[in-house]
Amino acid sequence: MLSVTALAAGYGGAAVFEDVSLDVEDGGLVCLLGRNGVGKSTLLNALIGLLPVRAGEVRLDGEAVTKMAAHQRIRRGMGYVPQGQAVFPQLSVRENLSVVRESSRTASRADVDEALDVFPGLAELTSRSAGLLSGGQRQQLAMAQALASRPRLLLLDEPTEGLQPSIVAEIEQAIERLHRHRGLSILLVEQFVDFALRVADRYAVLDHGSLVAAGATHEGR
Ligand SMILES: Nc1ncnc2c1ncn2[C@@H]1O[C@H](COP(=O)(O)OP(=O)(O)OP(=O)(O)O)[C@@H](O)[C@H]1O
Ligand SMILES: [Mg+2]
Repeated sequence: MLSVTALAAGYGGAAVFEDVSLDVEDGGLVCLLGRNGVGKSTLLNALIGLLPVRAGEVRLDGEAVTKMAAHQRIRRGMGYVPQGQAVFPQLSVRENLSVVRESSRTASRADVDEALDVFPGLAELTSRSAGLLSGGQRQQLAMAQALASRPRLLLLDEPTEGLQPSIVAEIEQAIERLHRHRGLSILLVEQFVDFALRVADRYAVLDHGSLVAAGATHEGR
């Protein structure tokens, strides 16, 4: 599904990572682990096309997408949920989802409804301003936004960061359902290592600018 070869990226004169190679198989779930500031979000930004790469290649289903803009990658089936529960606070839940639908050639009203089905609690709050949602609800909305464009591969950046434990469990269950029942391929950045290793079939560890370990989790064996 996703094939990353010898990727390098950074900011200004500073390289953040070099020679990163990793694959996410069709229907696979790979968790990306690493300390704060090691470059996990930078890698996801490079994969979705928000940050130009300095070397290497990104392929989606065999097609090179390395030079494509983010919206082109999204149209081809990549979804991205950035770190930090990013939504439009002044817009309602429904309006936040409409923004995706109107800016996407592919997402229909049915796609938006299906994305909301993943989060029943959120579906009851469609007229509430996103700025008034709890952190967990905002995260669910951010995930629903990404799902509305019907991705085959989802890049998830720390979806449980800063959330209370009961909401963390809900987000984790949603990720498991998307993976196991809908067959979505997922690259998950996650600080809760226990959860990450339980749900993932493979893991990769980023440290000092390169992948220092990778392999099958218990689940993936
Ligand atoms: N826009 C930017 N401009 C310059 N440097 C940046 C920018 N964004 C991140 N960095 C730097 O790049 C490095 C990697 O940051 P990144 O956000 O990718 O780390 P991370 O692994 O996602 O960390 P965390 O676990 O805290 O989210 C850090 O040193 C960070 O300060
Ligand atoms: Mg990060």
